[in-house]
Amino acid sequence: MTNKLKYFIGNWKMFGDFSSFKIIQEVNKYISKSKNLGKKKIVLCVPNTLIHFYKKKLRSKLISLGAQNCHFHEGYGAFTGSVSATMLKRLGAEYIILGHSENRLEGETNQIIKKKIISSLNQKLKVIFCIGETFNEKKNGKTYSILRNQIKSSLQNKFNKNKIILAYEPVWSIGTNKIPKMNELENIIKFIKKDFKLFFKTSNAPKVLYGGSVNPKNIKSLSSISEIDGFLIGGASQSSKKFIDIIENYYK
Ligand code: PGA
Repeated sequence: MTNKLKYFIGNWKMFGDFSSFKIIQEVNKYISKSKNLGKKKIVLCVPNTLIHFYKKKLRSKLISLGAQNCHFHEGYGAFTGSVSATMLKRLGAEYIILGHSENRLEGETNQIIKKKIISSLNQKLKVIFCIGETFNEKKNGKTYSILRNQIKSSLQNKFNKNKIILAYEPVWSIGTNKIPKMNELENIIKFIKKDFKLFFKTSNAPKVLYGGSVNPKNIKSLSSISEIDGFLIGGASQSSKKFIDIIENYYK
């Protein structure tokens, strides 16, 4: 069993209401009884409408709450329907997912993501920065150049790199039940770490998660890649049973 810290981060997307707190309670019950507590970091990125309610109900420190996006403008402003990193921080979010492909598909550019990262870091949120190629980009052999460009265009080397976790999420893998071949995935994770180190001129490798169709069955093969520092789990995190089974099977 690995001795390194592993992240299990749920991305609930547009799911959940007040009663869904029972999912968090179940996960909390499981985690509080599990061995090697200090080696697992559990984060649930829930809709903005639930962060404050859950934060107040969640007495445990074993689970952190996160948001899934924010407006690039910090503080307050004339941006109808939007929520800033400042507001999310005040609600109780500790983490924030940025650059998710579902938002990139709606027009979010690397430049906008950079601004969102700046305001989130200013607000002392830990950033889960998603990168990944589309199926066509993969088919055309562009995976590495796309990833490099996403890193280069959205990060600045003055950023506090310790507050940024990368999540490699191939777009073709999200919600499709398809995951990359293990040898390809291992090479990509290594590439991301190397590129990040070069970019920040540091010898410390960043944390890199994998996301895309992670489920209780495929987690075992994913666990064979020790360079993966954890997982960003979408659909399966909406069920306490699946989310717990993923953690359980990872360590089997
Ligand atoms: P999925 O989503 O696990 O449902 O594929 C992952 C994500 O979008 O972060």
